[in-house]
Amino acid sequence: MKLSSRGIWVAMRSYTVLKLIVAPALAGRQFMSEQKVMQAAAEDDKTLAQPIFGALPLGSISPLGWMRDQLELEAAGLAGNMFDFYRFVHDARWIGGATEYSGLDEASPYWFNGIVPLAFGLNDSRIIGQVKHYLDYVIDHQASDGWLGFEETHQTRGIWARCLLLLGMMQYAEADSTQTERIVDSMHRFVVLAHSMLQDNYTGLIVHGDDTFDIAGFGMGRTHELHIPLQWLYEKYPRNNSQILWETMELMIDGGEVWGADWRKFWVEDVYPKSEDDVNSFDGSWVFLHGVNHAEGLRYPLSIYRMTHDEALKRQTRTAVDLVDTYHKSLAGSIIGDEYISDKQPQRGAELCIAPEVMFSLAYIYQYLGDNDIADWVEQTTFNAFPASVSSDWWSHQYVQQENQPWARNLTKGSSGLWVDVNSYSNVFGLEPNYPCCTVNHPQAYPKYLANSFVTTEDGGIAHVLLGPASLSATLGGDNAVLISTDTKYPFDLSLTYTITATSAFDFYVRTPTWANTNTSTITGPGKSPQQAITLASNGLQKVSIPANEETKFIINLDTQPRVELLPNNAAAIYHGALLYSFAIEFNTTEHAPLRYYDEALLDSSTTDGHTHDHAIVPTSPWAIAIDPSQIAVVPSDSTNGDALPNPIWALGAPPVELRVAAVEIDWPLEHDTPAVPPTNPVVTGTPFSARFVPYGSAKLHMAHLPVLSLDTVDLLG
Ligand SMILES: *[C@@H]1O[C@H](CO)[C@@H](O)[C@H](O)[C@H]1NC(C)=O
Ligand SMILES: *[C@@H]1O[C@H](CO)[C@@H](O)[C@H](O)[C@H]1NC(C)=O
Ligand SMILES: *[C@@H]1O[C@H](CO)[C@@H](O)[C@H](O)[C@H]1NC(C)=O
Ligand SMILES: *[C@@H]1O[C@H](CO)[C@@H](O)[C@H](O)[C@H]1NC(C)=O
Ligand SMILES: *[C@@H]1O[C@H](CO)[C@@H](O)[C@H](O)[C@H]1NC(C)=O
Ligand SMILES: *[C@@H]1O[C@H](CO)[C@@H](O)[C@H](O)[C@H]1NC(C)=O
Repeated sequence: MKLSSRGIWVAMRSYTVLKLIVAPALAGRQFMSEQKVMQAAAEDDKTLAQPIFGALPLGSISPLGWMRDQLELEAAGLAGNMFDFYRFVHDARWIGGATEYSGLDEASPYWFNGIVPLAFGLNDSRIIGQVKHYLDYVIDHQASDGWLGFEETHQTRGIWARCLLLLGMMQYAEADSTQTERIVDSMHRFVVLAHSMLQDNYTGLIVHGDDTFDIAGFGMGRTHELHIPLQWLYEKYPRNNSQILWETMELMIDGGEVWGADWRKFWVEDVYPKSEDDVNSFDGSWVFLHGVNHAEGLRYPLSIYRMTHDEALKRQTRTAVDLVDTYHKSLAGSIIGDEYISDKQPQRGAELCIAPEVMFSLAYIYQYLGDNDIADWVEQTTFNAFPASVSSDWWSHQYVQQENQPWARNLTKGSSGLWVDVNSYSNVFGLEPNYPCCTVNHPQAYPKYLANSFVTTEDGGIAHVLLGPASLSATLGGDNAVLISTDTKYPFDLSLTYTITATSAFDFYVRTPTWANTNTSTITGPGKSPQQAITLASNGLQKVSIPANEETKFIINLDTQPRVELLPNNAAAIYHGALLYSFAIEFNTTEHAPLRYYDEALLDSSTTDGHTHDHAIVPTSPWAIAIDPSQIAVVPSDSTNGDALPNPIWALGAPPVELRVAAVEIDWPLEHDTPAVPPTNPVVTGTPFSARFVPYGSAKLHMAHLPVLSLDTVDLLG
């Protein structure tokens, strides 16, 4: 791991007085800082910029259909049980135990941030009991000086993990009003302390002397992670503390800037590393290049935009999204990073917990920018990258996912050099393959997707923007009781039936994905309105006026055709709707007791459970093919019978829709014990056939980034 040596301290500032102690070489900063202070002074009225779409309180949105099945599997699986056995949560020092995986002390705060929305999304009393225990312990043990957490010395007290804790506490306070007061009290006490620490040479953020809380500097790339909970506090429960809250956010950003981690200088066309060569020769901090940081750093400009109202930061956010999309996005919607961003090559890895961070960041960014394609990206990650790396029963997960992954097992010695900073065990489905951060951070993905699926609109309405089966029960404008239910198998079926009641009239909106054909997608109803083409506002939303006190029902039918994405070197990937498709591979799974992440020794049974196993998955059918993407057919799968979808849905053969694609077997060389980059002039070894393509998220073994050949006509449905 590359470390930055830039622990240079520049400025210590207070609200109106600026004390600058500037090294001569950094004199340029003095001007910038003064400008910033003048700008701040001009804004006596310190209001936060508002989003286009507002989030609804946690707990108001409930899952239905397959999404409920998934959250219930999550609750019954590793996520909902690790509190009872997994050492980094069960025995966390945060709750009186003895175990942390690093000096960041971030494991159980990551868990808390993801399990709170699971608990209240499902309203599951067992899971609520887990987070209540954690919350009670942490608040009851808050130090007399306001510190949250078990650390007692300046060497060990780092702010970063508190960002995750506060994110979880914020969600808790929204979902359970009986806890709001004490959570808000506790957060304020902490912020007052954090403020005084940060004023003292960024103590708790930048390591000084023998500090051990963040020797690598992860928190330096994540200084904006305190902003969502602090901005929530500032708007909803400022108490007497607005100034301290505001300054604390500024100090976090300033500290990161001093250290050399200002994402505003990174999300810039000429600076951003576009290839692996650029990454290797990057003249800036390593924190920008780390995949998870990358996903989190997408939110950095907006966290400052909310305070400065500087529209350029909104435009920069769009630039950041586009840069990642163009240069490092995986076909399944994650960021290719193992653990550092690399070229878009299908043998490279995307670390699992990048996916939930991408989902959360882009759902948030969509609320500020309103750009339709950004919501599409959230869905892409949710329905492809994330489920592909989690076992269908939610008890095991990978550390890295490859787009072309015909096996998920320990790679042989020859694999060294394949990935940069993860080991040969990383694509195994296990309890803690390679590193435990994804064990504790994967749970937030689906609960936060659900929590952001409905949003409020600027005209006082509601929009369904991240699609899927869900219901909303909310009170709009203080007295309009609204109930919305979306009955759908989306993304496996493109029909959405809405049933809505409200005590006052309001406008409802449904987002239409950019891939839907607007000429042939339709809305039927409400009432006797005949089927007609959808009519979209420029933001991609279909408006439906909802009257007071009567049930409104209507059906949206999205229409689309399979899409072929042509890739460099004569390769392609195939999508249909929100789903990426991959060549189906039959497999054989062997399982054994979970291995410890750092030495692959058997884990002690005190930190495992009867359900925890590591799984090696190997193919029992061919995987090396080239395709002719001019020949594609959409077919129902064998699972299409009756009304309900199979549960679990993310298993091979479970989704009700598949594709058939003309293909031929080829010679595909191996490199580093994994398929090499797709051959550009493949040697054909068989005769063309109709290949079965299935949703990538359902295929733990998959080939999705494939060479293209022109083939004779194949009877696809034969
Ligand atoms: C959650 O469940 C409890 C019963 O366990 C019920 O009283 C409460 O109304 C439910 N909350 C929501 C938001 O559905
Ligand atoms: C602030 O911290 C930096 C980095 O550890 C150190 O070099 C500098 O001397 C400190 N300044 C003061 C005034 O303590
Ligand atoms: C508000 O702040 C003032 C000045 O710091 C202090 O005297 C007062 O006690 C505070 N009030 C509350 C309710 O915290
Ligand atoms: C995995 O393979 C590597 C060689 O790539 C080897 O050193 C290691 O011992 C293997 N681990 C297990 C658990 O088999
Ligand atoms: C939709 O209809 C318009 C006008 O007939 C046509 O120009 C356009 O190509 C159609 N779009 C698609 C995706 O079929
Ligand atoms: C699956 O793997 C096990 C263990 O290696 C082996 O005994 C079995 O024959 C394999 N089954 C198939 C169908 O390949």
